[in-house]
Amino acid sequence: MVIILVGCQWGDEGKGKVIDYLAAKADMVIRSQGGNNAGHTVITEDGEFKFQLMPSGILHPECTCIIGNGVVVDPIVILREISQLRERGIDPKNLIVSERAHMVMRYHPLFDQLEEDSRGDDRLGTTWRGIGPAYADKVRRIGFRIGDLQKEAFMRKKLAFVVGNVKNPILTKLYEKEAYDWESMLEEYMGYAKLLDPYIKDTFPVIQEALDRNANILLEGAQATMLDLDFGTYPYVTSSNPTAGGALTGSGIAPTKVDLTIGVYKAYTSRVGYGPFPSELTDEVGDQIRERGHEFGTVTGRPRRIGWFDAAVGRYSARVNGVGCAALMRLDILDEQPMLKVCAGYEFRGTRHDHPIANISHYKHCTPIYEEMPGWETEIGAARCWEDLPQRCRDYVDRVGELIGVPVELVGTGPRRDQFVTRGRKLFD
Ligand code: IMP
Repeated sequence: MVIILVGCQWGDEGKGKVIDYLAAKADMVIRSQGGNNAGHTVITEDGEFKFQLMPSGILHPECTCIIGNGVVVDPIVILREISQLRERGIDPKNLIVSERAHMVMRYHPLFDQLEEDSRGDDRLGTTWRGIGPAYADKVRRIGFRIGDLQKEAFMRKKLAFVVGNVKNPILTKLYEKEAYDWESMLEEYMGYAKLLDPYIKDTFPVIQEALDRNANILLEGAQATMLDLDFGTYPYVTSSNPTAGGALTGSGIAPTKVDLTIGVYKAYTSRVGYGPFPSELTDEVGDQIRERGHEFGTVTGRPRRIGWFDAAVGRYSARVNGVGCAALMRLDILDEQPMLKVCAGYEFRGTRHDHPIANISHYKHCTPIYEEMPGWETEIGAARCWEDLPQRCRDYVDRVGELIGVPVELVGTGPRRDQFVTRGRKLFD
């Protein structure tokens, strides 16, 4: 069975926890896009694990974990994550990095920062991890693939060209910065090559073999639909396609092989970085949710912008991705709220819109149309089954499901692995 898991808002929906839940039954977990701009937290009996590049299934030793061709890999970061796992007694020998995956090179984070600075007030609020510049180089066909690390002569020639002829002139002439010494860079990357060598493979035969034997394969999405390069609030987006389509090109799995797409939603909305956010809360309710939910970026530490659940976004994401069932996470963060609002659609210049408006200058100025619902004002962290949840809480979940047009099958009631309510749908069984 092949399941794609996608974020359906602006990221940080709690995907790591759903992935961890599914990874326990998966034979293979694949990351297919993004890079170390992602931050997935998994909490187990052994404590908290924060991953940026590592597929979340890595804690299950029998699960093959693949960093797919569509990911941009910073070798420094993946090596750090490997050694952090080792320090905690976990040997990630179940990790495979696709030979075709591109690398975030030493200069990409610097270009990310310089480009952001040059935008002034129009900056995007990127994570400064070099993600955009790395994908741009991939498209310009001057990117380095992980497999290039295994070809020293090729690396030498290409670094001389890319660093010497492309990057350094821009750095020195446009930004008045120091040039890179590509020869010492070669030495540095050959060091990474040695350490990463056991993990680098052509993942095509590995994935095809798993498909042939009907293995349980989970495609672990990073970022989210509203940050998608095509379907998000461009240009306030990431530089990959975190939608279901991107999961396929980023792994080499054909659309006909997919059995189910699970959409992950948070019970409210958050966004990091700039760009339109119609249901944003700038009052004390937003502050309360931010504090209770510890809504500060796992990668950058930035406070996240908070808003009510936006069902127009939810409906759109469900359709773009073909979501078959939804996971509604972090419901417990709303435990103290006496009254809840859900944005059912928008009004713009006298017209109702049921989906986000493609023109972001219009989207920025639309007015949310809210439905109000009473809160449950009870702690739900101890609930173990659907019936344990207060009626008002179940009503909220069901209304969200109705509005987005997809049944909610999984509900997150707290940060721990066991704080999860499922409604009986079989996944990977
Ligand atoms: P970039 O991916 O670093 O280029 O950042 C582009 C936009 O995507 C910024 O608004 C980031 O805050 C946002 N972003 C990137 N990755 C994540 C994520 O994993 N969660 C939430 N927002 C993200």
